[in-house]
Amino acid sequence: MKFTAKTKMLALALLPALCFAAPSLPAQTRALAKTSPVELKSDTDWWKGAVVYEIYPRSFQDSNGDGIGDLNGIASRLDYLKLLGVDAIWLTPIYPSPQVDFGYDISDYEAIDPAYGTMADFDHLVAEAKKRDIKIIMDMVMNHTSDKHKWFLESESSKTNPKRDWYVWKDGKGPGQPPNNWISDFGHSAWQFDPKTNQYYYHKFYIQQPDLNWDNPAVQKAMFDTCRFWMKRGVYGFRLDAIPTLFEDPQLRDEKPVLDANGKPVIDAFGEEALITEGVTDNLPRVHDVEKDLRKVIDEFPGRVLIGETYFDKVADLRRSYGLHDDELQLPMDFQVGMINKLDVAAFRTRINEAETEIGGNEPLFVFDNHDNPRLDARYGDGVHDLDIERMLAALLFASRDTALFYYGDEIAMKTTPPTRVEDVRDPVGRSGWPKEKGRDGERTPMQWTPGPNAGFTTGTPWLPIPPSYTLYNVQTEVPNFDSMLNWYKQIIALHKTNPVVRSGKNVMLNTSDTKVLAWARLLDGQPAVVVACNFTAEAQKFSFDLTGTGIASKQARTLMKTPGSSDPASLDAVELPPYGVYIGQIE
Ligand code: GLC
Repeated sequence: MKFTAKTKMLALALLPALCFAAPSLPAQTRALAKTSPVELKSDTDWWKGAVVYEIYPRSFQDSNGDGIGDLNGIASRLDYLKLLGVDAIWLTPIYPSPQVDFGYDISDYEAIDPAYGTMADFDHLVAEAKKRDIKIIMDMVMNHTSDKHKWFLESESSKTNPKRDWYVWKDGKGPGQPPNNWISDFGHSAWQFDPKTNQYYYHKFYIQQPDLNWDNPAVQKAMFDTCRFWMKRGVYGFRLDAIPTLFEDPQLRDEKPVLDANGKPVIDAFGEEALITEGVTDNLPRVHDVEKDLRKVIDEFPGRVLIGETYFDKVADLRRSYGLHDDELQLPMDFQVGMINKLDVAAFRTRINEAETEIGGNEPLFVFDNHDNPRLDARYGDGVHDLDIERMLAALLFASRDTALFYYGDEIAMKTTPPTRVEDVRDPVGRSGWPKEKGRDGERTPMQWTPGPNAGFTTGTPWLPIPPSYTLYNVQTEVPNFDSMLNWYKQIIALHKTNPVVRSGKNVMLNTSDTKVLAWARLLDGQPAVVVACNFTAEAQKFSFDLTGTGIASKQARTLMKTPGSSDPASLDAVELPPYGVYIGQIE
């Protein structure tokens, strides 16, 4: 989650495999099902164009009736993920943790939290995933630990403890005064006073999440060894939590307030002045030294990948995360596309084009939803056409040139369902920010597998309530319904994986002055081009593809996918798009 000022502003117990292939699929889908996946250049490049699925383990599938999802639950759903077309799953933290920030406060980096299972369960999950050619990506939280981690317990014990310098300890400015004005992304001062040693420690996030001191080489070594530990256990990479925040200004300079258009300070969700973190507690150049060193570590193991939680406003920062010599992160997340948060054709066109032209030819990683932000319905929906809009955004995700990352439940159109009473809030951010900031429970509700009790998530009491909408939106109900979100995802993922042009062809934006329809072509030498049009309006549109400059000579196309209910166009000059409709065609 990016809690900084800029953002503030701004199945049935496992379904039998055959259930997924509904018998009445139209010809185009049957054809897709028969096509074999595109061969990649080499297995070490598996992540290019891959389909990555984020699992919030606590909420995916409970196997032991305690109301909390677990590793055996995930293992029991691997066939579902395989049928969906998932290449890799990113697990949010499963390490031992006091769970103040639901696992992002780690107390042991080389073990499994008993709530999620055992190391044997983890090894079983990796082995079962491997049988299905699904790779496991772990979440690596390197910026901070839990205050219950043994490193911190030692560090806080005395000023002379050998681990003192593993965390960021500073003297106050004066009695009762923290070292400076820095605030935590979770609200209030980022400095916590420790009366025992009369110093403050810095925490970018919650008080129970003290920041590690990355100026200390011992910290770097310990973290990198942890990465090796997991790679030796068969993990294929890491999603680097809050990676741009590893370093802070050594001179401890105050952060400046964010000003609105009238020059007035912007007040954040916690009722305090928002501050400009850039260059002071965020995105310091030294982060790149660590990224480069870490890349060398993961390159010791073939085919491993680094994914970054990289919220940036500028494409130049995104470009920089790949490394000056493409020697840092292979897949920094491009939130510039996914977090536009309004259906603005021009903004999408600009940002998708930037991902094609401004990141040095690297692989973009597009992502819309995650465990830190309201789901698609809440950020893009209009309350009337939400499902159409979600289908359209899935088309942006899977028909662009990218590695596509999506969040559990998106494929069944799960709804953001925030708590309505502060006493029900589980996320600490929601408790400190209530009512303006309700926290992240709304996007973390349990996966909806069936229309039966507790949506098939647990036989116990779910740790977060199941949204009432689960009776409509669940795997079991959606499987047999050809027009369901689940079948749309399944088809478009299959298209992304089986059509070489859709998987890796160049993206060229079309009709660049159109304010209603976003259109683009996908071009790959020697292959028939693919064209895509998305109607960004609530009205039907008649659309004519302008193919100037693409080298595409024909206006005849074969429909690959289209929104339910629309007809096949006779020509690309007359494509009828229903409200928020999608058309994907292959030039003939
Ligand atoms: C990242 C995680 C978020 C967590 C924070 C602190 O933004 O995605 O869930 O609260 O880091 O670790």
